[in-house]
Amino acid sequence: MEELYRTVAQLLVSDKQCVALTGAGISAESGIPTFRSKGGLWEKYDPVVYASIEVFNQDPSKYWTIRGDFIRNYDNYEPNAAHYALAELEKMGIVRHVITQNIDGLHKKAGSRKVAELHGSLRETYCLSCGKEYLAPNVPDGTPPACDCGGVLKPNTVLFGEQLPRDALETAYQESSTCKTMLVIGTSAVVQPAASLPSLAKQKGAAVIEVNPQKSFPAADYYLEEKAGIVMSMILNEVKKIQDT
Ligand code: OAD
Repeated sequence: MEELYRTVAQLLVSDKQCVALTGAGISAESGIPTFRSKGGLWEKYDPVVYASIEVFNQDPSKYWTIRGDFIRNYDNYEPNAAHYALAELEKMGIVRHVITQNIDGLHKKAGSRKVAELHGSLRETYCLSCGKEYLAPNVPDGTPPACDCGGVLKPNTVLFGEQLPRDALETAYQESSTCKTMLVIGTSAVVQPAASLPSLAKQKGAAVIEVNPQKSFPAADYYLEEKAGIVMSMILNEVKKIQDT
């Protein structure tokens, strides 16, 4: 395994143009539940009922109920070693962009600057009636938070049935089709369009490195079968060793 970390680190140092695609697994070690792992959020709740825009428009309390199980207070969560490693690799000129499906804001909190948040951010909330913007409120169980005007607040995140933010999507395609290496970290790679980005990168000639205790992208060139915090710390160490010699 050590040999594999060294090989991957060598590749990152020599090719440099690395893009990271991340999913819920990278935040698991920060205490945020994933969606599809054993015991994940979608085992408990049907996403079609709890996380679709159609249902939100009819009964927002369903969404706000599960928000309490997912992230109750946005500010309580801290980045872990994997988020910090990506931020440091960006500063070293190795990682050039992070594309994330996560809405927890932990990449930015860790110091990553180039981040495309494909599914939006929980941080921002806006009123469906008047459009006024708010920071994410703490979530009282199931009670939809209200705007000053009485309207319902919706988080600035993508629910099933909604369009992805255009800028983030364009960046994701552009970065994926021009990178030389892609780190695919902690995603089950089933939700489109994010799920197609590793294949796009590979088609365009990039080497794909998957970091996940359970393989989800069979066509990966390198597979690091461990938790993201462990793998990314090891890779960062190896990169530093290579750069110090
Ligand atoms: P999933 O919950 O589908 O997948 C999480 C992945 O993380 C799995 O492949 C796990 O094996 C892996 N994993 C778990 N712990 C890990 C760890 N410590 N280190 C590394 N990997 C680990 O999450 P996503 O693929 O992100 O969308 O799900 C994609 C989208 O589905 C989400 O953004 C969300 C959800 O419905 C929306 O809500 C629109």
